Amino acid sequence: MKNKSLISITDFSTEEILRILSIAEGFEKTPEPHLLDGRVVATLFFEPSTRTRLSFESAVNRMGGRIIGFSDPNISSVSKGETLKDTIRIVSNYCDLIVMRHPLEGSSRYASEVATVPVVNAGDGANQHPTQTLLDMYSIKKTQGRLDNINIFMVGDLKYGRTVHSLLQAMSPFSPTFHFVSHPKLRLPDEYKTFLDSKGVKYYEHEQFNDLIPEADIIYMTRVQRERFTDLVEYEKTKDVYVLRNSMLDKAKPTMKILHPLPRINEINQDVDQSPKAYYFEQARNGVFARQAVITYLLGLKR
Ligand code: CP
Repeated sequence: MKNKSLISITDFSTEEILRILSIAEGFEKTPEPHLLDGRVVATLFFEPSTRTRLSFESAVNRMGGRIIGFSDPNISSVSKGETLKDTIRIVSNYCDLIVMRHPLEGSSRYASEVATVPVVNAGDGANQHPTQTLLDMYSIKKTQGRLDNINIFMVGDLKYGRTVHSLLQAMSPFSPTFHFVSHPKLRLPDEYKTFLDSKGVKYYEHEQFNDLIPEADIIYMTRVQRERFTDLVEYEKTKDVYVLRNSMLDKAKPTMKILHPLPRINEINQDVDQSPKAYYFEQARNGVFARQAVITYLLGLKR
């Protein structure tokens, strides 16, 4: 049987997602320092990362496993012209699971087809970032006490923001209401609106959202993804359109939380950081538990 990989969040059923969240909760409550004894995980990062790579590596270390890999493809034989196919075949020999980030959409799916071990997509271009989605859902459940009937505002780069794409798909079985707030050039692509329509999910598009903040349970801010623009003039026009400031939060629900996959540039002013509504640093911490859960689930390890 082919190894199970996690490439798109839609590779997991809703039951599997809930199972992963439950396993993650277990890791937060009770560390398991020997669960990965004797196991090796490879992290292959063809694009920069702080949180995803380091939280995966932290997750493996906290379970007693070992890490191999690279954070810069220029120090691998990719720089000599080795293909992705050969790289993945070779690395499959050295590890039990591969975590890969790559700028090309579809690259992780391709890697999973040639690998002999499970592959986890740690971000492929503007397409998907499924483990970010799992930690986002973990954060929503932890702060709101539920996943059902959440009013979620997604703000910023909805065109290139892969975390937005994964999250809206995974949340759609839980009767959310989405408010998509973006510059017209960075609107949510039609394929995701078609997806939401097919699931009967309510959503609204806005260019302003200050007056709507009192309705929000979650405000999910995103960075405008400079690296995806072919025309940097367009980036300059769109990059600082939405900046969340503490003064905008006066009428927000007491339970409302602000999430951001990070890194942030200017879209959340630093005066928000001290607000009890700011949850983005804890959200990043939750990434360790969610990634522990994904690794052990894909490796079939019971806890
Ligand atoms: N959220 C996220 O993917 O962050 P990094 O790019 O630092 O991994």
